[in-house]
Amino acid sequence: MDYKFGGKYLLEQEIANGGCGTVFLGTHHIAGKQVAIKLEPATEGRKSVRRSKSQPELHTKTKKQTIDPYPGLSPLTLESQIYKRLMGAPGVPFLLHSGKQGPYNVLVMDLLGPSLEDLSRRCGRRFSLKTTCMLAVQCLDRLEYIHSRGVLHRDIKPANFVMSRTTPSIVNIIDFGLAKRYRQPLNGEHIPYSQHPDALHGVGTSLYASLNTHFGVESGRRDDLESLAYMLIGFVRGGLPWRKVRATVDPPPNWPSKDWNPITQTWNLIREEKVKAESALLSTSSKDRKQHTHGPTSSSNPTTLLTGLPEEFGVLYRYARTLQFTDLPDYEGLRQLFRGLAEREGFLDADGEYDGVWDWDTVDGKPSLAPGPVAIVHGQGRFCEACNKRAAEAAGVGSLGKRRKEWV
Ligand SMILES: Nc1ncnc2c1ncn2[C@@H]1O[C@H](COP(=O)(O)OP(=O)(O)O)[C@@H](O)[C@H]1O
Ligand SMILES: [Mg+2]
Repeated sequence: MDYKFGGKYLLEQEIANGGCGTVFLGTHHIAGKQVAIKLEPATEGRKSVRRSKSQPELHTKTKKQTIDPYPGLSPLTLESQIYKRLMGAPGVPFLLHSGKQGPYNVLVMDLLGPSLEDLSRRCGRRFSLKTTCMLAVQCLDRLEYIHSRGVLHRDIKPANFVMSRTTPSIVNIIDFGLAKRYRQPLNGEHIPYSQHPDALHGVGTSLYASLNTHFGVESGRRDDLESLAYMLIGFVRGGLPWRKVRATVDPPPNWPSKDWNPITQTWNLIREEKVKAESALLSTSSKDRKQHTHGPTSSSNPTTLLTGLPEEFGVLYRYARTLQFTDLPDYEGLRQLFRGLAEREGFLDADGEYDGVWDWDTVDGKPSLAPGPVAIVHGQGRFCEACNKRAAEAAGVGSLGKRRKEWV
């Protein structure tokens, strides 16, 4: 049976299955234009809307939703509102349709190409310095724009930056399911500083979350920037030191199983790694100052984050870490920083332009920018209160302890 959303977009194969929803390829029923269709299970109050067997299955295993960080709004509904606020600018896809249809909330948008997560995998999980510098400038542009519209992304990571298909050199920012307005709508005031009373971590993806998010501090612009720093550092390093850190699904012996939450435990383990990495950095930089050494140093310390990387990455990271909660980041200064690096490394031509060749253009021949086989994205340590609660309820447990491993 054909599924037609918004009266005109036909559902085709699944493209990706992320933390909060499932993304499908779709086509306009007359024009044939290809689109992306993101679906999540719809809920009515505490009851989920029944799906018949012949309707497409989503992977969120949701039965009902009882918690929502934005009361009354599902993550996809919130996401469509944010797209309405942001679309039209370069690097933000157009929202073509959104609403509730049968058992689904649906969002139809421009179809884009592969994500930086897909592309980094194709390139052996590492990007060259040139590709990373080119990405840095565009990603800073995207952050500056969404922040200028009063929006924090709160889940900055490679899977949420996607290349265009039509103009393949454009990096798009997507996935506003965890986004938040940081200005009061009436007076434009910055939201107040707060910290979770139990220092429970905030939302986002543990691999890329800022340290303040790990400590339960309300997010600001600085946190998107810190996540971007982790992302870029991960590209040139070939991964982050805590990439494989993950709590076991089952609690250790003698641990009361009702108190064991593998998601929180993984966040805690990664937080410890980030804290260690930061103290290693501080001690390395004071040693460097004493010895007046500037070149890369080698270290076998697995928590060393910036070893061997150009100093610009350290500047970005330290800058993000020193910003105050309400500070406006100096996006242009940071773009200049990466332009300076590109210039020094000889990546720019006589007109100060890049050659426009990305790493993936030369790997295994030029990859198609059409969506490839289904990219199973899963949660990647993503924490969304609404999705987690829904998955826990679907698993029939009161705590989050029995969650599927992929969600951790
Ligand atoms: N408009 C789009 N065009 C092509 N692929 C997309 C599009 N939107 C999302 N995707 C793919 O689907 C993945 C998951 O989408 P995303 O919106 O991030 O969902 P989630 O909230 O589940 O993380 C992305 O990482 C990307 O690979
Ligand atoms: Mg995503």
